[in-house]
Amino acid sequence: MSKKKNMAIDFQDNMILLTRKYLKRKIMCPETKFRHHVKERLHVLELVKRTVEMGESNSALLIGPRGSGKTMLVNSVLKELSALKSFKDNALIVNLHGLVHTDDRLALKDTTRQMQLENVVGDKVFGTFAENLCFLLECLKSGDKKLSKPVIFILDEFDLFCEHHNQTLLYNLFDVAQSAQVPICVLGITCRLDVIELLEKRVKSRFSYRQIFLLPGDTSSTEQPASAFDDRLELFQHLLSLPDDENVNKIEQQYDDCTIDPQFGSMWNEYIKSLTTNVTMVNLLKRMYHIDVSERRFRNFLAVAVSTLSEKHQKLEVNDFVEASKIFSQDDKVLMLEGLSILEMCLIIAMKQETEIFDDEPLNFEMIYNRYIKFANQNSSIQSVQKPVIMKAFEHIKNLEILLPVGHSNMRVEKEYQYYKFTLTSKQVMEAVKNYPGLPTEVSQWAASSI
Ligand SMILES: Nc1ncnc2c1ncn2[C@@H]1O[C@H](COP(=O)(O)OP(=O)(O)O)[C@@H](O)[C@H]1O
Ligand SMILES: [Mg+2]
Repeated sequence: MSKKKNMAIDFQDNMILLTRKYLKRKIMCPETKFRHHVKERLHVLELVKRTVEMGESNSALLIGPRGSGKTMLVNSVLKELSALKSFKDNALIVNLHGLVHTDDRLALKDTTRQMQLENVVGDKVFGTFAENLCFLLECLKSGDKKLSKPVIFILDEFDLFCEHHNQTLLYNLFDVAQSAQVPICVLGITCRLDVIELLEKRVKSRFSYRQIFLLPGDTSSTEQPASAFDDRLELFQHLLSLPDDENVNKIEQQYDDCTIDPQFGSMWNEYIKSLTTNVTMVNLLKRMYHIDVSERRFRNFLAVAVSTLSEKHQKLEVNDFVEASKIFSQDDKVLMLEGLSILEMCLIIAMKQETEIFDDEPLNFEMIYNRYIKFANQNSSIQSVQKPVIMKAFEHIKNLEILLPVGHSNMRVEKEYQYYKFTLTSKQVMEAVKNYPGLPTEVSQWAASSI
């Protein structure tokens, strides 16, 4: 082989390796820009900013399904604000997480640590939780100036804090915020739409009732309104594209060791663009989107496909994506159903029937109970169960987030009549019925019967 030809091959190999490196980072790196929900993001940004700059006290809840980008939104807001000197020098951020800080004592201890007040607190003993918290906040008041440092409390998985004894932490935080003793912003993040209902009365009365919703597919606030799937297709193209000329400089700072030849880049990008009109590719993406709209899984899927690039495999073929998707086509929700009891499976089937008949309308316990009882009565082989037991099974299903509460009403509704949205498709239920070992024949027949 001539030397020139050899060099050309080296160049090509090198480009592919750089491409793989660059794309993997782009796909997996959480530093990517937050997209959509411009209005909601601005709302959160303003709230936090007002606490820091004007000394206002605020409380708010950021609500949306898992994977809708809530945590990312808050992180991107904090990142943007950290670039401001007034914020960086002044504000204190306390990050609490419901899965980590499982009781209020623990949460307070970590708050002390995050405020760097462990030495100041030392061996002091406090009578009450409130006294302890007040002491911490008092410490933030700097010397002779009456001004206190603003504190931003971020409570991720907020709903879990509602389970803490007496909701002491929440009560005290909201109380401080409402009475504006010191500038404090309490920002809760949760996927429970009905989160307000979880607050005890005295806690609720101190909350601002400011709720910010992040609903998927709500791209109304972007420049070009697109359907949710078009948006996914755009993301596909974006995440797999190499930097084009105009962005090269900007990108290079971030990825200084990945300088990609612009000509190679534009050829690569053309090819990626052609994938978005490939019928097999689009259908695959649609199918995956149908199973799970969350971006997390989608990114993992792309990372697997990109990993197949090598000197020997220099192009992402549609088939590479098909292969990668196989790892992700296992539907978590269907898998989860395998762990349910037979009674719970029956309720799931009842929910499926109810949802089919009433065209996706929300359902409540009474409807499901009646449908189940009707089935049980018609089949002598089905053992009858008492209502409280059925209620327990229903609640278990609810806790698995298969049912999502609808309406963030302030009205007190008895739990039998609280409405829920059923989040499984008929296909998922049938799949689970098929996979369930030893499900009584009557039950699977009931599931298959169309109404
Ligand atoms: N609007 C968005 N802009 C950019 N990335 C997003 C957006 N929404 C979701 N993501 C992606 O989805 C992943 C999951 O988001 P996350 O904030 O953890 O969701 P949540 O906290 O709502 O469960 C993030 O790592 C991010 O890559
Ligand atoms: Mg989160």
